[in-house]
Amino acid sequence: MKDLKEIVKEKYGNIVKQKSEESCCTPSCCGPSDDGSVISIMAEDYTKLEGYNQDADLNLGCGLPTEFAMIKPGQTVVDLGSGAGNDCFIARAETGAEGMVYGVDFTPGMIDKARENVKKLGFENVKFVYGDIEEIPLDSDLADVVVSNCVFNLVPDKVKAFRETYRILAPGGHFSISDIVLEGDLPEGLQEAAEMYAGCVSGAIQKEDYIDIVRGAGFQNIKIQKQRPITLPEDLLSKYLSKEEIGDFNVKQGIYSITVYAEK
Ligand SMILES: C[S@@+](CC[C@H](N)C(=O)[O-])C[C@H]1O[C@@H](n2cnc3c(N)ncnc32)[C@H](O)[C@@H]1O
Repeated sequence: MKDLKEIVKEKYGNIVKQKSEESCCTPSCCGPSDDGSVISIMAEDYTKLEGYNQDADLNLGCGLPTEFAMIKPGQTVVDLGSGAGNDCFIARAETGAEGMVYGVDFTPGMIDKARENVKKLGFENVKFVYGDIEEIPLDSDLADVVVSNCVFNLVPDKVKAFRETYRILAPGGHFSISDIVLEGDLPEGLQEAAEMYAGCVSGAIQKEDYIDIVRGAGFQNIKIQKQRPITLPEDLLSKYLSKEEIGDFNVKQGIYSITVYAEK
């Protein structure tokens, strides 16, 4: 099997390329693509949020982390795995011109798209930085708030990524992260599918383990602000599982979108 990070970069590179080539308006009118099919099932509606920018919304999130991020005017916000900049522009609406917003992503096409978007909007205080969130290329104690949307499940070393999140947060800062977690083990057929890894399913870990990693990185006052079950459609499951396994899967396993808050 190819290196997991390479699979993720290739997948998200293809998604951004494909979305940029689509000539029609909103993602929903274009219909789900092969590449975006798993992940777009998890996305929530951003269109009513202040700062929303359609070009930055590739339908790739699994929650609304900014909803619980308590971002204040003038603050510094970092979005980990920022994609085309969707949450960065919502955060910018809250920090205002006096704040600073950084987006970090390791897919070159995503960074290019996000920079194209910020250029169109003319914001001077939104910067997109190329890099891996296991080694965030930003200074320590920089951020008042970290947000992230559907990214940590894609990161092989989640311990390292949460330690890095802790490092870049200023003392007293906090994060609000939306992500995918599991309850119960995934059947082998799903665990081994690259599409399911890049689609934010098989890289997800058990909810309890996730919270333990957050605690282990040094965070306090950890709260799950929101939890929503994710239902994978049967035609997708049937690509990897037998009828019997699908029946079992629906009874024994749970896939959830959670939005977690924690303080440094
Ligand atoms: C599911 S998409 C979400 C994008 C964005 N947060 C949104 O909601 O639109 C995951 C993003 O995380 C990025 N990503 C995955 N693993 C990463 C890593 N280790 N370091 C930096 N970015 C990563 C991918 O390139 C992709 O843009």
